[in-house]
Amino acid sequence: MAVITDAIDTSTDDPQQLRDDLVAFIDGLGTFRTPAVRDAFRTVPRHRFLPDVDLPTAYTPQPVVTKRAEDGTALSSASSPNVVATMLEQLNVQPGHRVLEIGAATGINAALIAELTGPSGTVVTIELDDDLAARARTSLTATGYDQIEVICADGALGYPTRAPYDRIIVTAGAWDLVTAWWDQLAIGGRLVVPLRLHGSGLTRSLAFDREDLDRMLSTSAAVCGFVPMRGAAEMGERHVRLADDVILKIDVDDRPDEAALAQTLAYPACEYWTSLPVRHDEPAQHLDLWLATNTSACFGRLAVGPAARTLGLVTPAVRWAGAALYDGGTIAYLVSRTLDDDTDELGIVAHGPQHSKFAAQTDDLLRRWNSKRPAQPTVTAQPAGTYGDHSGPGTAITRSDTRLTISW
Ligand SMILES: C[S@@+](CC[C@H](N)C(=O)[O-])C[C@H]1O[C@@H](n2cnc3c(N)ncnc32)[C@H](O)[C@@H]1O
Repeated sequence: MAVITDAIDTSTDDPQQLRDDLVAFIDGLGTFRTPAVRDAFRTVPRHRFLPDVDLPTAYTPQPVVTKRAEDGTALSSASSPNVVATMLEQLNVQPGHRVLEIGAATGINAALIAELTGPSGTVVTIELDDDLAARARTSLTATGYDQIEVICADGALGYPTRAPYDRIIVTAGAWDLVTAWWDQLAIGGRLVVPLRLHGSGLTRSLAFDREDLDRMLSTSAAVCGFVPMRGAAEMGERHVRLADDVILKIDVDDRPDEAALAQTLAYPACEYWTSLPVRHDEPAQHLDLWLATNTSACFGRLAVGPAARTLGLVTPAVRWAGAALYDGGTIAYLVSRTLDDDTDELGIVAHGPQHSKFAAQTDDLLRRWNSKRPAQPTVTAQPAGTYGDHSGPGTAITRSDTRLTISW
């Protein structure tokens, strides 16, 4: 965290200085791959899209929540600048492109995209909430981006009026690649979308290339988290409470023995250390997705509150966002411990009547992952009704409008 707060010189009130600091921070993470995206970040005045926060906050390298539901859940935000930069690099916008964004929020990303398309391009951005759409429109006009069309509608319907698009970017967590996006993306175009690959919220920003009418392929996957899409394409969520502040997020279709699961933390925690080292700078970020798509048990993610962590009741490795496997009343989750300054060791904590058998199965999975390192997912998408016999090898995930196949 220190590195984040130290990144920005909060004593300056010069927006250009703050922008340059933010660009330097993102550069330090190695995210920019093209001068065009870096220059767009250097140009767009973020603070003018975030009038309700102070200058340093507008340029903090973290998301800024701009709207919440009554229960406190975030509904809208200016996304983390590093994630925005990652997704714009994935999108590969060229001058003259026609681009559709879904999830306008503040309008910052639409302005960045307009910098990339230049004056010969077209940018349309859709926002579900009329108050947010109106504010984005006002900010874009005030900052000179009045050529961007802000549409208040459900992005699950796209915007056929300006289709076909060379690029579509979704900036809310999507559960499906909906039919409208298939219909409105040009052949040869690209769709970048934070796709929830599992009901527990496991999300990757994927960059799908439209190869032909009934196939898209993504070989690029970036870890991210987004507020979920609302509206017609909204997804459900299922949670099982394991203790006061420990929740297991599971897939919508899984039907666990909830009574048995709720008892699992009453069993002692059995630790197993695997001797598998993971360097801090190692690209091991897809281990949780690998487990989700390769296990024969059920996959879930633990959300652990501070009290449970302080008590040591559940201590999952932060790096894999609580990745856990469960079967009946037994659960196993990933932990890590320090080996030296640069390296951790992977471990497993298992609770429940079958803990040793289950830990051995998890250990076996981790060894299979280890032999595939660095495991990168390839995701193929096919629209509903075209699956036939030609889905390739891999784990299939079938949603209403699209079948996804994940292979490694
Ligand atoms: C994380 S914010 C987008 C960030 C933004 N693009 C930026 O520049 O930082 C997600 C936005 O998607 C909007 N949203 C959610 N569901 C939507 C839908 N079905 N159609 C259009 N917008 C939607 C939310 O209201 C929210 O403003």
